[in-house]
Amino acid sequence: AGPCDIYSSGGTPCVAAHSTTRALYSSFSGALYQIKRGSDGATTTISPLSAGGVANAAAQDTFCANTTCLITIIYDQSGHGNHLTQAPPGGFNGPDTNGYDNLASAIGAPVTLNGQKAYGVFISPGTGYRNNAASGTATGDAAEGMYAVLDGTHYNGDCCFDYGNAETSSRDTGNGHMEAIYFGDNTVWGTGSGSGPWVMADLENGLFSGSSSGNNAADPSISYRFLSAIVKGESNQWAIRGGNAVSGSLSTYYSGARPSVSGYNPMSKEGAIILGIGGDNSNGAQGTFYEGVMTSGYPSDATENSVQANIVAANYAAGSLTSGPALTVGSSISLQATTPGYTTRYIAYNGTTVNTQVVSSSSSTTLKQQASWTVRTGLGNSACFSFESVDTPGSYIRHYDFGLLLNANDGTKQFYEDATFCTQSGLNGQGNSLRSWSYPTRYFRHYNNVLYVASNGGVDTFDATASFNDDVSWVISAGWA
Ligand code: AHR
Ligand code: AHR
Ligand code: AHR
Repeated sequence: AGPCDIYSSGGTPCVAAHSTTRALYSSFSGALYQIKRGSDGATTTISPLSAGGVANAAAQDTFCANTTCLITIIYDQSGHGNHLTQAPPGGFNGPDTNGYDNLASAIGAPVTLNGQKAYGVFISPGTGYRNNAASGTATGDAAEGMYAVLDGTHYNGDCCFDYGNAETSSRDTGNGHMEAIYFGDNTVWGTGSGSGPWVMADLENGLFSGSSSGNNAADPSISYRFLSAIVKGESNQWAIRGGNAVSGSLSTYYSGARPSVSGYNPMSKEGAIILGIGGDNSNGAQGTFYEGVMTSGYPSDATENSVQANIVAANYAAGSLTSGPALTVGSSISLQATTPGYTTRYIAYNGTTVNTQVVSSSSSTTLKQQASWTVRTGLGNSACFSFESVDTPGSYIRHYDFGLLLNANDGTKQFYEDATFCTQSGLNGQGNSLRSWSYPTRYFRHYNNVLYVASNGGVDTFDATASFNDDVSWVISAGWA
């Protein structure tokens, strides 16, 4: 059985079922998600390898070979047609064209399920999915349940990495107009024990860890790589539950009455569905989503415990974030441009600006050092890499406003994430491309000989599709110094 078969048996059927990794019904063999590639704008759908099975990641890899791919639609498996697509502007604009949020890279969150490769949905700040015309989801004070499997190590404190029920207008229409799972370490409204991140409920104008705003010491900081998170609500009753998605059972972090502040009892749920954003399209948050559902009716703890067992049996594990020629931690490297006409240029820096400069064996020692980089274990993710300046130890290549800068490591989580890049086979077939871990739609790209993290066809000048594959492909060799 799949999670939604279990919810059905419990009398609380799924009315929305989203996953890019696997079928959530034992009989489901339809499309899980749609992807669009950068080379020609073509789309294709990815389905399970067999009914009830894991997504056909190999089909994605073939379709996206030597180009970039975005996740354009996350299909609803429940039959209600509650598909998730690029979120529109609302109370806040997104960064993409016409105020839409960005779409997620198709390769930002590789995993395996029982050894079979699949991809989750890696939400960078600015990314979001939504359905403002959902059918069958809870409205008003009606009962519903939700679970999501998330990456418990990918989060931030901005508003709001959510999955669940929200406003149909993409605007804040008042207390009680949302009921969604939140995950992160935002401390503006509620908190749990420790320093977070926490599973909370986004009920609009508040992330609730318990009965009222403020601290609930029974809501624990999460450190599971794979997290099962639950929020459910019915008339004057709601709960937060969670657990390790790869072993053991769920714990109840809160179960009880609605907040006593005006607006939350009764609730005024509107029934739209959001992923990765807040109700008003706040889009500063980050997180990773693998699968999740919304139900009709308030699921019993016993039903959810069976769903947790099903998730555990799926056996999630982290997949490989790198491909292509291997890098050796501790070695000094040079990165040579492959764009025709620019192949005498290497990644170097001037002041805090990372750029390309013409370097040769007859260059000065200073320039050779400025064009040499020590490979370090990724500061923000040990499966990827960071690049420390050979002539300015302690300073690393990091992105800032999507430009690449050479900055001293300030020890913050933000710096670590901004300075972490994952290698993959060069998009033009030469060497490596270097993908931002935190913004996996974005790659080291030279443009007018200055380095950016660029997305193929994005809104900035340096995102131009012309010459993209060449500009993001680098031959990595021994350092000049
Ligand atoms: O409730 C927290 C957030 O507040 C909601 O997600 C958003 O709509 C509002 O800004
Ligand atoms: O480069 C994008 C973002 O810009 C970085 O993550 C952040 O440090 C800066 O605001
Ligand atoms: O960085 C040099 C060139 O500048 C790039 O190849 C091109 O995309 C841009 O015009």
